[in-house]
Amino acid sequence: MCGIVGYVGQKDCAPILVEGLRRLEYRGYDSAGLAVHTGRGVEIVRAVGKLSNLDAALKKNPLSGTTGIGHTRWATHGRPSEANAHPHVAGHVAVVHNGIIENHVQLRRDLESRGVKLQSDTDTEIVAHLIDEAMRQGRTRLSEAVRTALGHVRGAYAIAVVSGDAPDEIVVAKQDSPLVLGIGENENFAASDIPAILAHTRDIILLHDGEMAVLTASHVEISTLEGTRITREHKRIDWSPMQAEKGGYKHFMLKEIHEQPRAIEDTLRGRVDLPNADVVGAEIGLSAELAQRVSRVYFVACGTSAHSAMAGRYWVEQLARIPSTLEIGSEVRTRDPVFVPNDLVVAVSQSGETLDTLAAVKAAKAAGAHVLAVTNVVDSAIARASDGALYTHAGPEIGVASTKCFTSQLAALLMLAIYMGRRRGTLDTDGAHRVLDALWRVPAQMREVLARGEDIKAIAKKYLRTRDMLFLGRGTEFPVALEGALKLKEISYIHAEGYAAGEMKHGPIALIDEDMPVVVVCPRDNQYDKTFSNMEEVKAREGQLIAVCTEGDEDVRALCFSDAAPRSSTRGILSAAEPDVITIPEAANEVQPLLTVLPLQLLAYYMADLKGTDVDQPRNLAKTVTVE
Ligand code: M6R
Repeated sequence: MCGIVGYVGQKDCAPILVEGLRRLEYRGYDSAGLAVHTGRGVEIVRAVGKLSNLDAALKKNPLSGTTGIGHTRWATHGRPSEANAHPHVAGHVAVVHNGIIENHVQLRRDLESRGVKLQSDTDTEIVAHLIDEAMRQGRTRLSEAVRTALGHVRGAYAIAVVSGDAPDEIVVAKQDSPLVLGIGENENFAASDIPAILAHTRDIILLHDGEMAVLTASHVEISTLEGTRITREHKRIDWSPMQAEKGGYKHFMLKEIHEQPRAIEDTLRGRVDLPNADVVGAEIGLSAELAQRVSRVYFVACGTSAHSAMAGRYWVEQLARIPSTLEIGSEVRTRDPVFVPNDLVVAVSQSGETLDTLAAVKAAKAAGAHVLAVTNVVDSAIARASDGALYTHAGPEIGVASTKCFTSQLAALLMLAIYMGRRRGTLDTDGAHRVLDALWRVPAQMREVLARGEDIKAIAKKYLRTRDMLFLGRGTEFPVALEGALKLKEISYIHAEGYAAGEMKHGPIALIDEDMPVVVVCPRDNQYDKTFSNMEEVKAREGQLIAVCTEGDEDVRALCFSDAAPRSSTRGILSAAEPDVITIPEAANEVQPLLTVLPLQLLAYYMADLKGTDVDQPRNLAKTVTVE
């Protein structure tokens, strides 16, 4: 996830572009750059790090002109460096891009075989060269060259392009990554998101997938990538700048919860090979030879990442049949564990900076283990300290409570388990196809679950005055139960505990009475009957059941009906006639955790918001924990 912005008009564009990028910094901030028509052609200035570094670079090398594009980057291909920062240049053409080009490896090879020398590790530079080639092959209009180049590209993109040969225009195009156009008086804008242009215009046009536009100071000409002209009226936006930054959502956390379908799509993009029922090895960070040789997989992580790692452990055991274990980062440091050379240590960390996980990685490396980082930040400390990296593509997460990074980690770890299972022959074509197909359908199913937000909010209202909550789940729903409890305590400050449902009778059952809400994650899977029995045990002790189950499960629904007439318990919990049941669509067992966690994230969110806590920055917590 990166931010792009473009301006064409009569004003000096560099300050407008930099200010626009500042409003998009939430989309990424590892490097930034501008390309501006200065009268001497297109000139670029780029800098690694936050925008203040670009400001400083522009003071040294000012860019003056009225047409330009800018970019703030969140690396997906290639570490954060000046060479990898956008804009990327080929001939007279400069390009900024947000998205992931799936066939970049093949396109790079093709370009190199034609003698092109690429300067960066990015997928974007390839697009710049394809456009430049098309221009040199006689596509005299920039828009025609862009159209020709995009004909070779597969994947997600929002691009903005300028060329020294077309000093008064910007060409933009979009497929699966956001792009808005801003309509002004003798000036026009393009950006990844509305906040970047809100200070200049409130009249916007949303570009659709498969469309491109040519922007000049006085015109916006929209067409399909095939060349059909499109007329679209602009819309007036009345959001405040703050609302716009959160995409109209009240909090970043809620926005990020709703970004999960897109985050999963981006994490799967270019990695799932459905026709061959496999996962693309080059993207996994682990060689086929190593995948075959590993004798144990040792997951290390903290907090939410430890919950996704726990699911990863279950999948590696089930699909690749490799003995696996999970250790909390801080305990690895404390315990001096024994690693052996054929251990694969998988370090899971959203930030890639968590000190306890980093220390575990260093200890494992020192002991001779091979380390694979699963992280959302390219070239982060944990990625650098590891032998390979499998990147999630969730984009920056701003809410302290992790949501989209958790589900992206689940998707990445499930792909890792499938990849290893295929290499080791424990997962046949049919089995792999079944799971990959289910994974591919998850984003659409997530959208269905997220549409049930109002029902979840109604449940949250009922339990607002509770002081404690239990969360139960079995198998891969156990980490989901742990995650649901962690989300609730982090942001609402309500005491919550997650347990393996089978563990309830070994202690927690003593807590259950009419004042104890118990959230049970009970989709139709191979653990269903046992978890259902646990729900009956809760009900027998008058606990308040809240269930996450599969659509159409009338048994769970009937069980969650309260026999008693509506009444208040001592803590004000109302046992109502309507059962507290949230459903997920039918899905293969393996992908259910990506769906069942969504209602729990929303439950925590609404309980916190209704209580009025600081959802995005809960007390005492930090987004990145770089202390012991
Ligand atoms: O960046 P990491 O994934 O390594 O962070 C680990 C934990 O600090 C983090 O998951 C924490 O538990 C979050 N606040 C959870 O919402």
